[in-house]
Amino acid sequence: MAKLNILTFPDPRLRKVAVPVTKFDKSLENFVSDMLETMYEENGIGLAASQVDFHERIIVIDISDERNDPKVFINPEFKVLNDKSLLSFNEGCLSVPGVTEEIVRPDSIYLTWQDVKGEHHADEPSGLLTVCIQHEIDHLEGKLMVDYLSPLKRDRIRKKASK
Ligand code: NI
Repeated sequence: MAKLNILTFPDPRLRKVAVPVTKFDKSLENFVSDMLETMYEENGIGLAASQVDFHERIIVIDISDERNDPKVFINPEFKVLNDKSLLSFNEGCLSVPGVTEEIVRPDSIYLTWQDVKGEHHADEPSGLLTVCIQHEIDHLEGKLMVDYLSPLKRDRIRKKASK
C-alpha cells in the first residue's frame, strides 16, 4: 500500500475527463487500496481517482464517524429521480484545501456502479452519501466544487492557492 499524491486546484490535470474502467484485475484492487489509504490519511470522506492523477472512473467514500465503512464505486453513473428535492451541504475537497462552501444538489438519485470484481450494483442513496457521490463523480468529469461558486469567489480561491 502507498499513499498517493493529491492534485490541488488550479492544477489543470484536475480538469481531465476520466475514462471507464475496463480491466478488473489485481492492479485495480491495489490501486483502490492505495486510494482508500490516501483518503483515510488525509481525513477525507471521499476521493476520486482524478484527484491522484489517474484518469479512470473510480471513487472511494467513507462517511461513517468510525472511519470503518469504505465504499468503492467503479464506473458510477446516476440519474436524478426528483429535481425538486434538493439538499444544501457545506462541502469541502482535498483538492481545494481550506475551503468549504454551501452547495445545493439533488438528493434523490438512482445510482449504478461496479465493484472491484466488476459486479454490477444499483441503489438509491440518500443524504450525505448522495452529496458525496455527486461531488466525486464531478471530479471524474473534470469538474470541481469551485465551479459552483461565483467567478469572483473562484478567483479569490485561485489567487490564495497560488501564493
Ligand atoms: Ni473533492
